[in-house]
Amino acid sequence: MDFIRKTVLPCTILFVFVIGISYFLKSYMVAEALQAEQVIENIYENINGFSLSSDDSATMKKLGAASVYGEILYGSLEVLLDTLHINNNDVFYDFGSGVGKAAMQVALNTNAKKVVGLELSADRINRAIRAKERLAELGYKNHADRLIFQEEDFLEVPINDATIVYLCSTCFPDDMMEKIVNKIIDLDQPVKIISLRPIDNQVAQLVNEYKLPMSWSEGLPVYIYQTIKELNT
Ligand SMILES: C[S@@+](CC[C@H](N)C(=O)[O-])C[C@H]1O[C@@H](n2cnc3c(N)ncnc32)[C@H](O)[C@@H]1O
Repeated sequence: MDFIRKTVLPCTILFVFVIGISYFLKSYMVAEALQAEQVIENIYENINGFSLSSDDSATMKKLGAASVYGEILYGSLEVLLDTLHINNNDVFYDFGSGVGKAAMQVALNTNAKKVVGLELSADRINRAIRAKERLAELGYKNHADRLIFQEEDFLEVPINDATIVYLCSTCFPDDMMEKIVNKIIDLDQPVKIISLRPIDNQVAQLVNEYKLPMSWSEGLPVYIYQTIKELNT
């Protein structure tokens, strides 16, 4: 009887307590993730990147950017974020961020120090900035402060602080891919690259490979690479 009171009972209470706490934390995390998805859906109800003004379309055509538009889906990006273990030392770049939905998801669901969306289209970047303002209005000011949208050609702008670069690269031609990869491997620090097109494994090591749905496809290969740097650099 004494054994039950002194050992079995406290152990049972502790066990139930630990299970209860872990169940609570798990449901809290699921609720947080659900909430982020709903926040993004709400913000983007009236904001999309698929249509452009005729002026912007003409400019994009002149700059040689592909006229087709597509987005990574929320669930697909979550799969990638689960593997990346982004922390507050990370700076995430989205090369061709469109209206900024993916970048916003990274800012909402990770502790990244900074999330930068670079986009050539003036219309899309203006919509992304509007979405970011709305995020702050909804009470996510700290997340919005870490989110930066710049109307820039990603080939031209310095990215010295990048630790993760996302390339929605399906439509990026070979010469553009080569310039992007050279730009990234020139950086001093190792960088993780998420790409929808494979990269030469001499310059970056394949870490993971997935098949994930996108707005324009039911299942597309997505690769995560890590640039190869000497240990003492
Ligand atoms: C397919 S969308 C991807 C949107 C977002 N990254 C996602 O995955 O959900 C690609 C975007 O890249 C932009 N883009 C193409 N070339 C670019 C360049 N050189 N610099 C900046 N943006 C570019 C296009 O305007 C388009 O909005």
